[in-house]
Amino acid sequence: ADVFTYDPGFTSTAATDSAITYIDGDKGELLYRGYPIEQLADKSHYLEVCYLLLYGELPNAQEMEQFETTVTRHTMVHEQMHYFFRGFRRDAHPMATMVGVVGAMSAFYHDSTDISDPWQREVAAIRMVAKMPTVAAMAYKYSIGQPFVYPKNSLDYAGNFLHMCFAVPCEDYVVDPILSKAMDRIMMLHADHEQNASTSTVRLAGSSGANPFACIAAGIACLWGPAHGGANQACLEMLREIGTVDRIPEFIARAKDKNDPFRLMGFGHRVYKNFDPRAKVMKESADEVLDLLGIHNNETLKVAKELEKIALEDEYFVSKKLYPNVDFYSGIILEAMGFPTSMFTPIFALSRTVGWISQWKEMLGDPTQKIGRPRQRYIGAPARDYVEVPNR
Ligand code: CMC
Repeated sequence: ADVFTYDPGFTSTAATDSAITYIDGDKGELLYRGYPIEQLADKSHYLEVCYLLLYGELPNAQEMEQFETTVTRHTMVHEQMHYFFRGFRRDAHPMATMVGVVGAMSAFYHDSTDISDPWQREVAAIRMVAKMPTVAAMAYKYSIGQPFVYPKNSLDYAGNFLHMCFAVPCEDYVVDPILSKAMDRIMMLHADHEQNASTSTVRLAGSSGANPFACIAAGIACLWGPAHGGANQACLEMLREIGTVDRIPEFIARAKDKNDPFRLMGFGHRVYKNFDPRAKVMKESADEVLDLLGIHNNETLKVAKELEKIALEDEYFVSKKLYPNVDFYSGIILEAMGFPTSMFTPIFALSRTVGWISQWKEMLGDPTQKIGRPRQRYIGAPARDYVEVPNR
C-alpha cells in the first residue's frame, strides 16, 4: 500500500515557498516582506501595505501616487451588479452575499479571467483590491435595507469604505478622521498572514487554474468559519454574553471543561505560541478609539481586559500557550465605530483580499507549483461485489 505522511490539519506540512509574510510563532513576530507589523501599523497606511504585499517593495512617492490612481479608478462595481445584490434575501448575512457576489464577478469581469495573460492577472488583482470595500459596503447596506452608496474617490481607502457604509442620502455624512485611521489600521493588521486556512484555500483553488474571482470567493467562504475569520463576530458575541466581570470565572471554567464544546473566542492560534503581535496593536487601538470617541466605561472592553488578565494567569491557558489573537479586540473597535457584528468578518475579508491575491499571483509565477492534491489513508470497506436490492 502507498505510504503517505499523515498530517491532518497540516500542522507540519509546508506546501509552498513564499516571500510575502513571515511569522515566528514562538517570538510573536509578524513581518510583511520583512517589515515588522508594528512599524507598518504605526507609520504606513493600508494602500501602501497593499503595494508592498503585491510588488515586494515599499513604493516611492511616484509609484504610490500611480498605484492610488489605478486603484481609485476601479472602485465602482458594474451597475448591473446592483441587480445581482437585489436577488438575495433582504436580511442575508453580508458574508453570504459576498461569497456569491465575488464568485459572480467572473461573470461581470471576464476580461480579467484569463490567467495565462499577465496583464489580465494584474487587472484582476487591482480590481479585487479596489472593489472589495464597495462589495462589502453594498452587502451591508442591502442587509439593512438602505440604498447603496457609490464610492467617493476623493476619500482615502478606509474613509471611502466608512462613507459607503454610513452615509445616507437624506443626511450629510463626514468621515471622522480618527475612525478612518483606526479602520485603516485594522485593514493593515489583517492584510496577510501566510498560509492560513483561507489563503491555502485560495491557493488550492488557484492551483487548478480557476479564475481569480472564483479563488477569492473560495477564500471568503473559508474565512467565514468561527475558528478563522468568523471568530471576531463570535468573540464580541461571547463578550456580550459574559456581560459583566463577575461572570468571567464561569466562562473560563467552561473553556477548560473538555465535555463542553465552548472555547474562548479570540484566544489561541495554530502558529502563535506567544502574544499575537496584531492583538497588541489592536488592544492599544481599542483604548485610543474609545477614548477619542469619548466612550468611557465600555463594559465590553472591561470584560475583555479582565478576561485576558485572568486567562493569562490561568494554568490551563498558560500550559497550552493560549494567548489573545487578532480577533480578540477588533470587534470592540468595530462596534464603537457603529458596525453590527455581522460586518466584522466582511471587514476581515476585504482587508485580507490583498493577501489572498498576492499569494495567488506568487503561486502563478512559481514554475514549481502543481495542482494541490492531498492524499488520504483509506479506512473504508475492502473491495466487494455489488449486491442486488432483494439481497440487501
Ligand atoms: N479556548 C479553550 N481551549 C482552547 C482554545 C480556546 N480558544 N484554543 C485551543 N484550545 C485548547 C484545545 O482544546 C486543545 O486542548 P487539548 O490539547 O487538551 O485537546 C489545545 O488548546 C490545542 O488546540 P487545537 O484546537 O488543537 O489547536 P489548533 O491549532 O488546531 O487551533 C484555533 C487553533 C485558533 C482554531 C483554536 O485556538 C481556536 O479554536 N480558537 C478560538 C477561535 C479563534 O479565536 N480563532 C481565530 C484565530 S486567529 C485569526 C484567524 O485565523 O482568523
